Amino acid sequence: MFRIVEKTELAAGIFRMRVEAPRVAASALPGQFVIVRADEQGERVPLTVADYDRTAGTVTIVTQTIGVSTRKICALEAGDALADFAGPLGHPSEFVTLSPEALRGRRYLFVAGGVGTAPVYPQVKWLHEHGVGADVIVGAKTRDMLIYTDEMRAVAGNLYIATDDGSEGYKGMVTGLIRELIDTRGKRYDECVAIGPMVMMKFVALATREYGLKTTVSLNALMVDGTGMCGACRVTVGGKTFFTCVDGPEFDGHAVDFDEAMRRQGMYRTQEERARAIAAE
Ligand code: FES
Repeated sequence: MFRIVEKTELAAGIFRMRVEAPRVAASALPGQFVIVRADEQGERVPLTVADYDRTAGTVTIVTQTIGVSTRKICALEAGDALADFAGPLGHPSEFVTLSPEALRGRRYLFVAGGVGTAPVYPQVKWLHEHGVGADVIVGAKTRDMLIYTDEMRAVAGNLYIATDDGSEGYKGMVTGLIRELIDTRGKRYDECVAIGPMVMMKFVALATREYGLKTTVSLNALMVDGTGMCGACRVTVGGKTFFTCVDGPEFDGHAVDFDEAMRRQGMYRTQEERARAIAAE
C-alpha cells in the first residue's frame, strides 16, 4: 500500500497528493508516469508524475475528478493509502538525455493547459536545475482554475498566463499568446512542449507548425496494462502505430493523428456514464 502523506485541493475538483513510494521516487524523471489504483477493484488510472523527492521517498500526482475512478482517488485523504502505484513508466522527456553542451542556450517554450500544468512543473524545474530558464504559458478557463502558478514562477525563465475569460493575464486561448510572443514580442524558441487537453495540444501543434517550431506533446491515452501488451493506448504518429505507454508518452506533436486520438479517448464514454450513474444510486 502507498500512503498519501499530504493532500491539497489546488482548484475546484483538482487535487494534489504526495504519496510515499520510495522505489518510484528513486528513479522517476520528468515526463514519466505512474499507474494508480485506489483499491483492489479500482480501474487503472495513468497519471504523469508532477514531482518527486528522492530523499523523502515521495512522488506527487495531480488528479481531477472526471470519472468514477478519479473521484475515488480524489476522495482519499492524507493518511489513507492507494492500492497500487506502479512506475515510473514510459520514457523521460528527451531533454533529460541531452548533454550539457547540447542543452546550453536551448530555448524552450512550455504550454500547459488545465490539469496538464502539473506534469509541466517537473520538466521546467529540471531545466532550471540544469541552467536553462524556459518560458512557460499556463492556460485555464478562468483565474480560479489556474494551478501551479507560484511553483512555476519559481523555476521558469518567464511565466505567462492565459485565461479564456481574461480574468487573469492574456484573454484568449494559449495559441493566441504563442502568436503574440513570437510575432509581437519577437521571441524565438528551439522547441515547444505542450501538455494539456488533447484538443489544446492539437491546436498548439497546428500553430507551431506555421513557425516551423519543433513541438513535443504528452499524450494522455486510455491505458489498461501500461506495459505494451493490451493495445488500449494505441496512437498513430507519422502514419505508424505506437503504444503510448511504452513508446511515449511524449511524441512529435506535428505527426500525431489527434482526431483519431480524441476519438479513441472517448471510446468508453457510454460505459463511463453508466458507471457514474450506478455510483450515484
Ligand atoms: Fe496496454 Fe499501452 S496500456 S499497450
